[in-house]
Amino acid sequence: MRVLLVGSGGREHALAWALAASPLLSALFVAPGNPGTATLGTNVAIAAEDIAGLARFAREQRIDLVLPGPEAPLVAGLADALAALGIACCGPTAAAARLEGSKGFTKEVCAAAAIPTAAAALFTDATAARAHLARHGAPVVVKADGLAAGKGVVVAESLAEAEAAVTAMLEEGAFGAAGARVLIEECLRGPEVSLFALCDGTDAVLLGAAADHKRVGEGNRGPNTGGMGAISPPGGFTDAQAEEAMARIVRPALAEMARRGTPFRGILFAGLMLTAQGPKLIEFNVRFGDPECQALVLRFASDLLPALVAACEGELGNFALRLSAQTAVAVVMAARGYPGTSAKGSEIRGIAAAAAQPGALVFHAGTRAEGGRILADGGRVLTVCATGRDGVEARARAYAAVDAIDWPEGFCRRDIGARG
Ligand code: AMP
Ligand code: GLY
Repeated sequence: MRVLLVGSGGREHALAWALAASPLLSALFVAPGNPGTATLGTNVAIAAEDIAGLARFAREQRIDLVLPGPEAPLVAGLADALAALGIACCGPTAAAARLEGSKGFTKEVCAAAAIPTAAAALFTDATAARAHLARHGAPVVVKADGLAAGKGVVVAESLAEAEAAVTAMLEEGAFGAAGARVLIEECLRGPEVSLFALCDGTDAVLLGAAADHKRVGEGNRGPNTGGMGAISPPGGFTDAQAEEAMARIVRPALAEMARRGTPFRGILFAGLMLTAQGPKLIEFNVRFGDPECQALVLRFASDLLPALVAACEGELGNFALRLSAQTAVAVVMAARGYPGTSAKGSEIRGIAAAAAQPGALVFHAGTRAEGGRILADGGRVLTVCATGRDGVEARARAYAAVDAIDWPEGFCRRDIGARG
């Protein structure tokens, strides 16, 4: 099979690594890719958001399957453009990608399918939103409806903080069109888990679960990031809880999307809060998480490629994916300053030494190759991963690999996976 993978982060390097292990693969292209994916396939200089360029390349190169990493091309209609050319895409149409693109839409789906989630109300008018806040009280969560690069959620411990978020989004256009509609949500408490399911429009199989670490600082302090590390499986999350989430959240959402005539195909990422009343949905994403994906792929004991094909062909009904019983830990190394602005161009040494540690793998994200050297070229720069027989061993191995990296301009959290 000739496969086109879309994206350039650590997630995409990890997916390229999983795809490259498949005996079914004959050629792998990555658009635009990074220096890590270049060692596993051919990078092509097409941006992940360039729908027309990606579709043209897929047609010209007789691509059999496209796997989009990030959500932006899906929300912009990549799967639709490929369907028009008869090319399989393991990702949802733009209509089905609204599960990530609009939080208000997801709440409608949840209501129609009786999916447990935080109670919420949708506002376009700031005065009405503030009146609602006054009745509701704090803590409360204020969210931009649309895509806001992970920055559109304010978990407000005080009314003043919530009001400021409403003002910023609805009156000051802080997130542009994405913030023109605002959700005000009940605040849920409990540990968070990212659950991943592969879906074919009708059926879903569990790909696994991971715990992300969203804050930049140890002990979950400091600003939110795209994710500073992950552990899979998450400590204390049982198979029974995963099955409950599949039965009460993922499968009802699939059924409701099919009923609406917009069946969901691809990777459904359910962000869950494990509350005292059972798992509740925080949000859906329509793709793998980054860095959750880097931890998950290390545990795939089945070939990923036939599973993706089965999802595209509507044949997941009799499919099972095996996960190893090992634990995987993924530690993000970021450039100092992240998630604010960080300097580019510093040299990273020791990547090969890190990857040579027992059980370890290093995935590239914001890096650039120049004259045989690897330079930092973004905020999240590497994901250093390792497996072990339990969380203790996986963490020890991942941090042994981190310690082999010589990059004074970078940093990481030292407590990834420590919760369990
Ligand atoms: P999101 O961008 O929707 O993933 O939200 C970012 C983070 O905000 C989540 O990972 C949660 O930690 C937090 N969050 C979102 N919604 C809620 C909620 N209803 N209650 C408590 N925390 C929430
Ligand atoms: N790590 C969370 C995400 O990819 O959205």
